[in-house]
Amino acid sequence: MTTASVQGKAVVITGGARGIGRALAQAFAEAGADVLIGDLRAEEAEATAGEIARATGRKVFATGADVTRLEDAQKLRDAGIVQLGRIDVLVNCAGWDRLMPFLKTTPELWDRIIGINYRGVIHTCHAVLPHMKERKQGCIVNISSDSARVGSMGEAVYAGAKAAVVAFSKTLAREHARDNIRVNVICPGLVDTPLLGEIQKEEFGGKVIGAVIGAIPMKRLGRAEEIAPLAVFLASDAAGYITGQVTSVDGGLTMVG
Ligand SMILES: NC(=O)c1ccc[n+]([C@@H]2O[C@H](COP(=O)([O-])OP(=O)(O)OC[C@H]3O[C@@H](n4cnc5c(N)ncnc54)[C@H](O)[C@@H]3O)[C@@H](O)[C@H]2O)c1
Repeated sequence: MTTASVQGKAVVITGGARGIGRALAQAFAEAGADVLIGDLRAEEAEATAGEIARATGRKVFATGADVTRLEDAQKLRDAGIVQLGRIDVLVNCAGWDRLMPFLKTTPELWDRIIGINYRGVIHTCHAVLPHMKERKQGCIVNISSDSARVGSMGEAVYAGAKAAVVAFSKTLAREHARDNIRVNVICPGLVDTPLLGEIQKEEFGGKVIGAVIGAIPMKRLGRAEEIAPLAVFLASDAAGYITGQVTSVDGGLTMVG
């Protein structure tokens, strides 16, 4: 297979109601995949799924799911198998952060950030991998962050959780290569999404984000649609020999060797 096709693949995407996850759902459906979105914002996810289904003619479903809960991850897997017939691709995009100097953060905030950004990925992978292993095929794309690679002012715990996703993904890639399951990571830089907008509204977050934009060689934020094509490629058969890799999409912000 030399062209990047995901035609007919069954794709589960967490955090697909809005932002990068929404753009991922759109891109996969446009490329001929069927999609199930699992998101905390159940109503918004339903609306997003309906819009994408109407625009693309693909099956696009949504279900409420809180990835911090293992039971929800298991229900999401079951819904994927029932509604799509199987799960070929899992994309973990649900995430959250608030910018704050580390010494001002609290244990409650640490738990929330680690729960969504790291445990959430553990939960969905633990739920879906046995299904992929049984079918001897599967692909996981985890959305981490450039903060995982180079650190990020005001995001100590988030950067740690996102770095954990990188190490976790590489380990799953090693353990499951023999099951024909590939696991890769995308690290966005700064992307114009509702989450980034919320962070920019706060005084500290606004200052930090402004400074980081100045350090981006391309001098602009990324668009959610600019993250999605790499995920579609990584999930395609054309990427069949790529596993355990970490790729930034960031306008040149990090250029990690
Ligand atoms: N926007 C950026 O600049 C940026 C940069 C690097 C990495 N990221 C990562 O990209 C991903 C998407 O971020 P975004 O900017 O599009 O955010 P967003 O808030 O715009 O969208 C995130 C989606 O995840 C959902 N979500 C949050 N917690 C959840 C939970 N517990 N269970 C299920 N769904 C949940 C939200 O409801 C929302 O629909 C996140 O993992 C984020 O950490 C974003």
